[in-house]
Amino acid sequence: MNRRYRKTIIAGNWKMNKTATETKKFAEQLKAVLPKAKWCDVVVCVPAVNIQAAVKAFRDMRVSVGAENLFYEKSGAYTGEVSADMLKDLGVKYVIIGHSERRQYFGETDVSVNKKVHAALEAGLHPIICVGETLEQREMGITMELIALQVKAALCGVGAEKVRKCVIAYEPVWAIGTGKTATAAQAGEVCTWIRTTIRRLYGARVARSVTIQYGGSMKPSNAVELLAQPDVDGGLIGGAALKADEFTAIVNAANQD
Ligand code: PGA
Repeated sequence: MNRRYRKTIIAGNWKMNKTATETKKFAEQLKAVLPKAKWCDVVVCVPAVNIQAAVKAFRDMRVSVGAENLFYEKSGAYTGEVSADMLKDLGVKYVIIGHSERRQYFGETDVSVNKKVHAALEAGLHPIICVGETLEQREMGITMELIALQVKAALCGVGAEKVRKCVIAYEPVWAIGTGKTATAAQAGEVCTWIRTTIRRLYGARVARSVTIQYGGSMKPSNAVELLAQPDVDGGLIGGAALKADEFTAIVNAANQD
């Protein structure tokens, strides 16, 4: 973390979990345990149908609501899709783009990720852009090249002033939902590499202002060590974000003075 130059952001990714009723209940539980004074920003990304309930429930708690996906067109004949403007209008601040589950199960590519990043920024949303290698790719020794490619593709055509509004989440695919966490050194190395990649594209001042998260089995027991890495500015948390006490423990790990 480095609070001098950029925000520390702890974001939950609920994936396809919790109903609107459960969202309300979670907010009540979170309110009881979440510290009032926070050094870090707290975001909860919820399924699209729960956004309205979440915005209402998290009001007055200084917890921002995020979406888990969007479609890049502004409007039209795209049955079942949700646009950036629709999210913005509901009070959404962040949107996860290019999560590995979307790349794996829903055909998302670096090209569609780039279009979605542009759509999010145009609507005034902060994209949380996910990048990460599979186990095979790590074992082949191509992690760094692949990550640079994903970052460059996601940010293609995005101006320097807009890049500051982006969050990059490094999520090694082999660590997501598996209980296998990258070591702090592995996470730190790739997050530093992401910043180097941004620096080469946009210069040092922009690069140091971008929040880079780690995601993949982050939990209370490993959060302090991961967040101690200088280029790990927060977390994107799946499983542990579903329980108010575990999520709060991670917020507390980022909340150290
Ligand atoms: P996990 O998920 O914390 O359950 O590994 C992280 C994510 O997919 O964003």
